[in-house]
Amino acid sequence: MKKVCIVGASGKLGQYMVQHALDRGYEVVGVCRAQSVEKLDAFQDRITIVPGMTNDRDVIRKAVAGCEGVLTVLVPWGVDGYATGTAQAVLDFVEPEARLIFSCGWHISKDGKDDYSWKLKTFVKVFGGLARLFRYADLDDQVEACDRIFASDTRWTVVRGSDLEEGESQGLPVWSRHVGDPVLASNRTRRIDFALFMVEALENDALIHEAPAIVGCQTPSAQAHASAV
Ligand SMILES: NC(=O)c1ccc[n+]([C@@H]2O[C@H](COP(=O)([O-])OP(=O)(O)OC[C@H]3O[C@@H](n4cnc5c(N)ncnc54)[C@H](OP(=O)(O)O)[C@@H]3O)[C@@H](O)[C@H]2O)c1
Repeated sequence: MKKVCIVGASGKLGQYMVQHALDRGYEVVGVCRAQSVEKLDAFQDRITIVPGMTNDRDVIRKAVAGCEGVLTVLVPWGVDGYATGTAQAVLDFVEPEARLIFSCGWHISKDGKDDYSWKLKTFVKVFGGLARLFRYADLDDQVEACDRIFASDTRWTVVRGSDLEEGESQGLPVWSRHVGDPVLASNRTRRIDFALFMVEALENDALIHEAPAIVGCQTPSAQAHASAV
């Protein structure tokens, strides 16, 4: 793989992905909002930046042209279908054989077989309700975005992040098909390692059409159940 596009490159997860992608020798195209371009100043001589909203179809069409991999940060901001518009634009304009990796949280379920804690269920209900009420975010938008990805015949992977924290890399997170698996119980991943998992997934065909739920490899639950993974 030579050239990859990172949609949402200026965010925290996006910047880590830019670094991992450059470390692997990929040519990188980054999409970010015009007001956020300066957040990528540290990379400005090493990447191509396409400024614009990530749900702007013309922006995505231009950015993903010729890319063999596309890493997309799915965010449910606002109540106008931002995540869905972003995902649909990526699905519509990527090269036919491109490898697509999307980010989301554990609350997304591919097959309805995830077993959620009362804490996560309450958070989704309360935060989701308040966020929508104040038109700040719409978690259902991220659900719709992922449903469209799951239904597509592209070469996708949807990486479902646990709660995140900053800090140095601890290595590649471990994953499970379903939330509720004891290996995930610690519910903690370094953001830099979430990005690492996404970038590594570009070259891991075993993850095609999977929605791995990830957790840090040095967390107690990952270490206790390492042999089960
Ligand atoms: N935060 C968590 O604890 C957590 C847990 C599990 C999974 N995740 C998943 O991880 C991914 C990254 O999440 P993150 O929290 O770490 O955030 P992040 O990397 O900081 O990314 C936030 C993204 O949202 C964009 N953004 C912010 N405000 C916006 C607005 N009003 N309109 C449009 N775009 C806006 C940012 O672009 P600018 O640079 O232009 O602001 C950036 O690309 C997401 O897919 C999320 O679902 C997060």
